[in-house]
Amino acid sequence: MKFLSLYILLFPIFLNSQSKLESSMENGKSIYNDFCLRCHLSEGEGVEGIYPPLAKSDYLFKNIKQSIIAVKQGGIDGDIIVNGKKYEGYMENMGLYSDEVADVMNYILNSWGNNYNKIITEEYVDELTKKK
Ligand code: HEC
Repeated sequence: MKFLSLYILLFPIFLNSQSKLESSMENGKSIYNDFCLRCHLSEGEGVEGIYPPLAKSDYLFKNIKQSIIAVKQGGIDGDIIVNGKKYEGYMENMGLYSDEVADVMNYILNSWGNNYNKIITEEYVDELTKKK
């Protein structure tokens, strides 16, 4: 009985630390399905030579800041190399709000074998993309 009550007491604390990232990813998943899936596809696999992969993307993990800015404001200047393949396309500005960008980044950074585990916040997206 003693252990049971301890468990009941501590369980909400455990849930709370997990739930921030998980609920952000949950929102991010529907944003992904609405905005990103048509190019980057359902497992983040992309289309070789046209739409770069997000799953296990070396570019994404080396350029998280630039990726956030590209998702929020559109475009990545110049050609980029993702997992050894060159991409010369252009990503349009999708008009997402900073909280939506944070959610979709949390989703792609922690899905399909990606495991970033730190949370991207709305404030961080604002900080990176505010007009100087
Ligand atoms: C119309 C097609 C299209 C849509 C829709 C789109 N992207 Fe992209 N995305 C691209 C292309 C093309 C590039 C490569 C840009 C370049 O070559 O400079 C890219 C690059 C990226 C990159 C950096 C490269 C990589 O693979 O790691 C990320 C991250 C990314 N997109 C995330 C997203 C997210 C998140 C969404 C939805 C909110 C989205 N994209 C919607 C076409 C698209």
